[in-house]
Amino acid sequence: MTEPPVERHTQVAIIGAGPAGLFLAHLLHGLGVHSVVLEARDRGYVEARIRAGVLEQGTVDLLHQLGAGDRLAGESLREHSFELRLDGERHLVDVLGLAGVPMTVYGQQEIVKDLIALRVDRQHEPLLFDAPVTAIDGATTDRPSVVYRHGGRSHTLHADAVVAADGFHGVGRQAVPTTALREYRREFPYAWLGVMAEVAPSTEHVIYSRHADGLGMLSPRSPTLSRLYLQVAPGATRAQWPDARIWAELRRRLATDDGWTLREGPIVEFSVAPLRAFVAEPMRHGRLFLAGDAAHIVPPTGAKGLNLAVADVAALATALIRLIRDGEPELAGAYSEHCLERVWRATHLSWWMTSMLHVVPGQDPFESELQLTQLRHLVTSRTAAATLAETYTGYAPLLFDPSTRLGATALWGASSAA
Ligand code: APR
Ligand code: PHB
Repeated sequence: MTEPPVERHTQVAIIGAGPAGLFLAHLLHGLGVHSVVLEARDRGYVEARIRAGVLEQGTVDLLHQLGAGDRLAGESLREHSFELRLDGERHLVDVLGLAGVPMTVYGQQEIVKDLIALRVDRQHEPLLFDAPVTAIDGATTDRPSVVYRHGGRSHTLHADAVVAADGFHGVGRQAVPTTALREYRREFPYAWLGVMAEVAPSTEHVIYSRHADGLGMLSPRSPTLSRLYLQVAPGATRAQWPDARIWAELRRRLATDDGWTLREGPIVEFSVAPLRAFVAEPMRHGRLFLAGDAAHIVPPTGAKGLNLAVADVAALATALIRLIRDGEPELAGAYSEHCLERVWRATHLSWWMTSMLHVVPGQDPFESELQLTQLRHLVTSRTAAATLAETYTGYAPLLFDPSTRLGATALWGASSAA
């Protein structure tokens, strides 16, 4: 005999304990709004997932505002520039000088650990692991709900709003009728092989190298950890890429004409990830809101994914407090349009950097010359470099303003009117 579902209520049901779900839960907590975070996987799995680690200043500021910035303050690295390598020549792009703000390097999984620890150990607010959501009901009513499994039982959580922060493969987007959603996709014909190596970085800043055989990348993670990437064929496997081959290829693709050397060390993590861009529009269906990778994916070149997820939930927290506390739906109505402006800007940057820096085997020489002329333009024209640096560092401030009584047009700009 199956037991009846357990029923309970919260103000905001959040699906997913990735960066989007966790940042949102903390923003809402700070505003006195209750939420329950439901995560399909276990804590160890979520905390170990390695992704890009370059943070915009707005993301860093928000972490501090949430009281989760102590470890970041001690362990992160400040980056004032990044390097473009072209035919063995090294060119520094002075991001701080061009855009007025630096970037910060701190692993995404470290942020996830810090936010989980704050929620579970200090706030004692509900965050359930091993709790996969299986259905979302009543999205277009005032009282949506989610059904999830936990502890061998089925549970129903009623809420004032449901936020799908459940990543690209989650259930949230699938709960929106296909007729109510428009999807934009671009698959790139290559993948990124990523490794984490226990070795002091051979650089102080991120290096993007365009090589005739494809991109090579190096990103410092800490005084003792280096993250490295190679453009590879989709579906590449560990068996095809033993350590010696990875290092040999990295040495070749990152080689310079001035004697720079790549430090090597034990590889402690290996992954291959496809490169794709994806945008779903609108990011809201009634009282179901999509945030982060559930709504949009950018290729990793430029490291915009996490920063976009944070920008979404900063705006969403502002919209939800107005909806739930004041019964005022205007900002919730403008959420999608507001976020998509930044999403498309970042999608363009990521697509642009990806297209310039990757080489498709056997590609048209005309295409290669176009890539090279763009890269040379970037390293010789301050105006061109400034355009890149402006979006690389974050494009526009995050909009988190829960105290506001302003409407969407005044708060988020004319194009965001509901
Ligand atoms: N029920 C509960 N949780 C779910 C479900 C489900 N049905 N489906 C997925 N999840 C969980 C996943 O296990 C994952 O922990 O949702 C979480 C989504 O987290 P992320 O994939 O990290 O997505 P997001 O929080 O939007 O993070 C954006 O992560 O992928 C990178 O590049 C991206 O840096 C960006 C950031
Ligand atoms: C990373 O450190 O993982 C990283 C850095 C810069 C990028 C992408 C990824 O553009």
